Amino acid sequence: EDGMRQELGSLHGMPLFKTFIEGWPQVKAFQARPDDLLIATYPKSGTTWLSEIMDMIYQDGDVEKCRRDAIYNRVPFLEVNDIPGPNGVEQLENTPSPRLVKTHLPIQLVPTSFWEKDCKVIYMARNPKDVVVSYYYFHQMAKIHPDPGTKAEFLENFMAGKVAYGSWYDHVRGWWEKRQEKKMLYLFYEDMKKDPRREVQKILQFLGKELTEETVERILHHTSFQEMKKNPLANYETVPTNIMDHNLSPFMRKGISGDWKNYFTVAQNERFDQHYRERMAGSDLHFQMEV
Ligand code: PPS
Repeated sequence: EDGMRQELGSLHGMPLFKTFIEGWPQVKAFQARPDDLLIATYPKSGTTWLSEIMDMIYQDGDVEKCRRDAIYNRVPFLEVNDIPGPNGVEQLENTPSPRLVKTHLPIQLVPTSFWEKDCKVIYMARNPKDVVVSYYYFHQMAKIHPDPGTKAEFLENFMAGKVAYGSWYDHVRGWWEKRQEKKMLYLFYEDMKKDPRREVQKILQFLGKELTEETVERILHHTSFQEMKKNPLANYETVPTNIMDHNLSPFMRKGISGDWKNYFTVAQNERFDQHYRERMAGSDLHFQMEV
């Protein structure tokens, strides 16, 4: 089964799965439509959560409509190119507008068509300590990734940007610095945990959409961690086990902020804080490491 695991190649200097790199020409030439909405994240930052919220908003809070398909088909993953059948671009070509599009690409690699068509983007960022823990467990269960090694080894690779999608620092800073030039809403996982109602209202305002309080309430309930964890159309359990093995670690693992405290040693935390200060120096972008 580990035969699925891929070594990482380099896409314009960013580490990425070799099959994704093979599909790159198609991604680069992707034709966005003006009413596409791009959901952009570094991996393990709340992509699926935000995707389910966005589909619920697009369906006016109709839970039955959101049961039409699995989340990875309702919100296709632009650059995915790993399984037999349609890749992300082909899937999107067959998706009716208005489309929700998922990507983990850093801003400089987003297909230019999204900017030419002036598409809206929602970026969600999560604090790096929780991202690295979540990413480590995701490497265990999602068999496309290289073997993560020990937790200590994985932490080193993450800090050095030697993981799929490269440096978390470059990713969050790259998107942050361009947020005012684009039609972009920049959100944080920790804010969504603390006050999901306020964050959903921010999204509605960004979309220029109004929903009743009752509908917002239904959206918040349907997209809570507990509800999504038991929803096969949101929790990735419909993916074949040779691709994702939930027995090794469930996709809906914990869904909290501050879980890193259960894994980082005191020494690792000090080293990480030092590295974080260096890599975030001169930026007005700040993260809450817990809520
Ligand atoms: S992926 O594979 O990169 O698209 O993964 P992504 O969806 O970005 O991140 C997965 C983490 O998000 C957590 N999650 C949630 N947290 C809170 N509320 C809800 N509804 C929710 N849905 C998913 C999921 O549990 C992963 O985080 P960890 O820390 O591993 O639990």
